[in-house]
Amino acid sequence: MNRRTFLLASGAALSLPLMGCSSSSTTNTTNTGGNTSTQTPLRMPQLLTGTQFDLNLQTGSMEFIAGTSTPTFGINSNYLGPVIKVRNGDTVNFNVRNTLTEAATLHWHGMHVPGNVDGGPHQEILPGGLWQPSFTINQAAATNWFHSHTHNKTGEQVYRGLAGMMIVEDAESDALDLPKSWAEDDFPLIIQDRKFNTDGSFSYLPTQQDAMRGMMGDTFMINGSIDPIVDLPNKEVRFRILNASNARVYQLRLSNGDAFKQIATDNAFRETPLSLTSITVSPAERVEIVVDLSNLQGQTLTLQDANNNDTVLLTLNVNKAASSITRVPAQLTTLTPLDPTAAVRTRPFVLGRTRGLFSINGVSMDMTRIDHAMTLNEVEIWEITNTMGMTHNFHSHATHFQIIERNGSAANVLEYEKGYKDTVLLNPNDSVKVVVKMTDYTADASTPYMFHCHILEHEDRGMMGQFTVA
Ligand code: C2O
Ligand code: CU
Ligand code: CU
Repeated sequence: MNRRTFLLASGAALSLPLMGCSSSSTTNTTNTGGNTSTQTPLRMPQLLTGTQFDLNLQTGSMEFIAGTSTPTFGINSNYLGPVIKVRNGDTVNFNVRNTLTEAATLHWHGMHVPGNVDGGPHQEILPGGLWQPSFTINQAAATNWFHSHTHNKTGEQVYRGLAGMMIVEDAESDALDLPKSWAEDDFPLIIQDRKFNTDGSFSYLPTQQDAMRGMMGDTFMINGSIDPIVDLPNKEVRFRILNASNARVYQLRLSNGDAFKQIATDNAFRETPLSLTSITVSPAERVEIVVDLSNLQGQTLTLQDANNNDTVLLTLNVNKAASSITRVPAQLTTLTPLDPTAAVRTRPFVLGRTRGLFSINGVSMDMTRIDHAMTLNEVEIWEITNTMGMTHNFHSHATHFQIIERNGSAANVLEYEKGYKDTVLLNPNDSVKVVVKMTDYTADASTPYMFHCHILEHEDRGMMGQFTVA
């Protein structure tokens, strides 16, 4: 199916290619490496709500670049998956069918669930197989996601498209005066970078350097749309941003330099909105931001990556009339930070290289080795050190943590990383301390939780370990 039918089928609003727009925007030149293309309407994933979800892991094809066809993976779709919206307190059930010709798993990243439904590498769904996890949503409103977590193949499978967004709502998020009209003033932005071969197929790890630093592409997409444009009302608009790239770290900013408000970190709202003009998002991290377009009727601006010469990721076309207004409240939630002085131990996590593989504490991922045994309700400090001259990050399954020190000092913790987090960026030679507590759920040695660098090529090449909770 061609791009236009696909977009119509996916329910995206069509907008005309935009030429010569206002001076506040950068040019509409494509980032597809020399092709001249017009902008495409931002694709909107299907939204699924309720408590029963049927998810099919499937092959597909996409016309990302006009006139070419890219073989892909998707979940109920040609590429990527639906947005699954669940409610705190609900018990949800999944039928996950693997119609691929290779084994895969599906991990609920950011979800606070027992080890035996976490979807890590021990829970392979064989080709033709069906996996039926069920769990009760037991956490505050957040923007999370799900993705393949197959042993040694996560990078490749996510690159091909096995990822989607999972949103948790609760009574508190219902009550807040935030933008929440889906696809009107509330949008998922799943940011990825890809590299294409001339025949249109994805290029994955063409060079040794791609495996070493992590796979970075030269073509950017949001929700699977290259150079997308979205029509927006002249009011506050909320973006639920997920960096679903394998390795690239983005520094997001608006072309007009305007400030926006960060309202959420990985696993929860911030207590209060934070005004920023740019925000850094490393692989697997989520941020929710609210951009105020009230005074920008008729204007066009762009969301750009300041880490990459202000590459345009998304064009915002303010051309719709707001049907109602919202006002981001001064207080969003109340968090319960863990007390570091209550910690019973400090665990080191040293990110490095050992015997030609990536490693944590000198050992590379071994499915048969449990690296840490955690005890329910014990507060711990985890000291994560990047010993390398390259960027890593660190993600833990099971629960959230709070960052209490960066490079030896609490004062170095960045404002936008204060709150509930499950993934933290470590620039070359950085160290961070986080405080964490396992609660509610256990994981035994047959289905342990994972901790790892979320640069997927590093995860697949050893920078991962396993822990039980009892
Ligand atoms: Cu996003 Cu171990 O996962
Ligand atoms: Cu995870
Ligand atoms: Cu890494």
